[in-house]
Amino acid sequence: MNILVNDDYASMSQQAAAIIEAHICNHERTVLGLATGSTPLGMYEALIEGHQTRGVSFKRTFTLNLDEYIGLQPSHPQSYHYYMQHHLFSKIDIPLHQTYLPNGTAQSLSDECSRYEQIIDEVGPPDIQVLGIGENGHIGFNEPGSDFSGTTHVIDLAPSTLKANARFFHTVDEVPNKAITMGIQSILKSKRILLLASGENKAWAVKKLMEKIIDDQFPASALHHHPDVTLVIDQKAYSQIQSDRG
Ligand code: GLP
Repeated sequence: MNILVNDDYASMSQQAAAIIEAHICNHERTVLGLATGSTPLGMYEALIEGHQTRGVSFKRTFTLNLDEYIGLQPSHPQSYHYYMQHHLFSKIDIPLHQTYLPNGTAQSLSDECSRYEQIIDEVGPPDIQVLGIGENGHIGFNEPGSDFSGTTHVIDLAPSTLKANARFFHTVDEVPNKAITMGIQSILKSKRILLLASGENKAWAVKKLMEKIIDDQFPASALHHHPDVTLVIDQKAYSQIQSDRG
């Protein structure tokens, strides 16, 4: 596991986008695994800037998103479908039929899980999978206690995740309490993983991850089973490691 520590959120975002841009520019076809949340927003802005100012084209890029809330229509402003459309897809030249997210409003969620896993195998695996990290160490929506051999599945969100994500809704009661997420095994199929973390609220999770203790109560620790993981973080997210080292 490599770790790249940037001065601040802006440089972390630029660095992550530069890694993705370099892959797209040097390959005929790129498959990206994408994450939502606050953390990758700056990276998406930097990718859009690359498209607008350097002519980077996403016409031969395919995307597979990690997760979606159950019960939110794609038109709901807090759905991850809406997020991706608003923050990235509508601002670059990616053909929309090359973008995939799990459908949180499918009639049969178990069929949807199988369908999505099949898509990951047919379109992917991602050349680069972007991950954020929850304050409790979740990746995608794989909460503490998740099976490391899990594929795409439905999950009950942890109370701490509902609380953390309440900032995007009017009240915590509006946060859907279930989601559909790629499993840890699905995530580990990716060829390369970039985990982004920014801010002091992620410093504990980053420190715990760097302790290299594999524990299902800390889902991100499953990444130690992957051969090519890079943490792209900022100083604040690194701060607990730094303070331990004096
Ligand atoms: C969310 C998402 C994750 C994301 C994480 C951190 O709930 N399901 O994919 O990485 O929590 O979010 P944020 O970047 O907003 O801190």
